[in-house]
Amino acid sequence: MEFKNLLYEVADGICTLTINRPDKMNALNQDTINEIKQAFQAIEEDDAVKGVLLTGAGPKAFVAGADIAEFSAFTPGQAEKMAQNGHRTFNEVEHCFKPVVAAINGFALGGGCELAMACHIRIASENARFGQPEINLGIIPGYGGTQRLVRHIGFARAAEMLLTGDMINANEAKEAGLISKIVPQENLISTAKELLNKISQKSPLAIAQIIKLINRYYEHESGGFESEISEFADCFNTEDFKEGVSAFLEKRKAQFTGK
Ligand code: COA
Repeated sequence: MEFKNLLYEVADGICTLTINRPDKMNALNQDTINEIKQAFQAIEEDDAVKGVLLTGAGPKAFVAGADIAEFSAFTPGQAEKMAQNGHRTFNEVEHCFKPVVAAINGFALGGGCELAMACHIRIASENARFGQPEINLGIIPGYGGTQRLVRHIGFARAAEMLLTGDMINANEAKEAGLISKIVPQENLISTAKELLNKISQKSPLAIAQIIKLINRYYEHESGGFESEISEFADCFNTEDFKEGVSAFLEKRKAQFTGK
């Protein structure tokens, strides 16, 4: 399949999906979110695909977040649509009945960390960095980060990451349980493929059931996802949002006033 911001390649039963905007650290603009959704619909329909490898183009970033330049002028209504669309797309990833391995090859920030957390397995290269830096922009995560980060690493560590916006490195992410393996960058893709090949030898029915059931474990939390969408949109009404994104785009430190 042909996409603008995604590479979609199927070989030996594995669909390798590469977010392909390396000059923008693979930031997720709205087109890319829509393309990820379309790609997962195609993956579910294609019997030749037994598993999915999701990664970012280039050696520096998996995905450095939602595209700040694109959403910098969004109204709350546009922000709500953005968050709804992102939630729907990442739910497709999470509920894909074929195994999805995130091969995290660098920065996984904001929407990048959220996308990785929607995958079933996360492995990372030694240079990977994880974070939810939205607070530095005067906003909150809008693609499920307030919910999935707590799920994956527990309240205390998630609260610290969400409230400080600080990044953690690959070792810290492994120790926290956010990822399951760290490998040298040159081995990242081959290791992800080995994992997917191993899984694809198992029963597709059992694989699909396990994915459904591990997701079901968390279903009682779904109220938080809905609240995140509306509270993300509300952030776009504030002076702090304007200051936060202007500061990022002007490459300076933001001065927040709480307005
Ligand atoms: N949205 C839009 N553009 C982004 C981006 C994002 N989330 N992340 C990086 N970029 C762009 C930069 O603006 C820059 O573009 P330019 O060359 O036109 O100026 C380019 O990608 C390279 O990034 P740069 O900041 O110069 O690289 P760096 O190595 O100094 O820093 C990061 C890398 C990832 C630490 C830094 O880019 C960053 O903090 N990005 C934003 C992370 C974030 O807040 N994500 C959450 C968004 S809700």
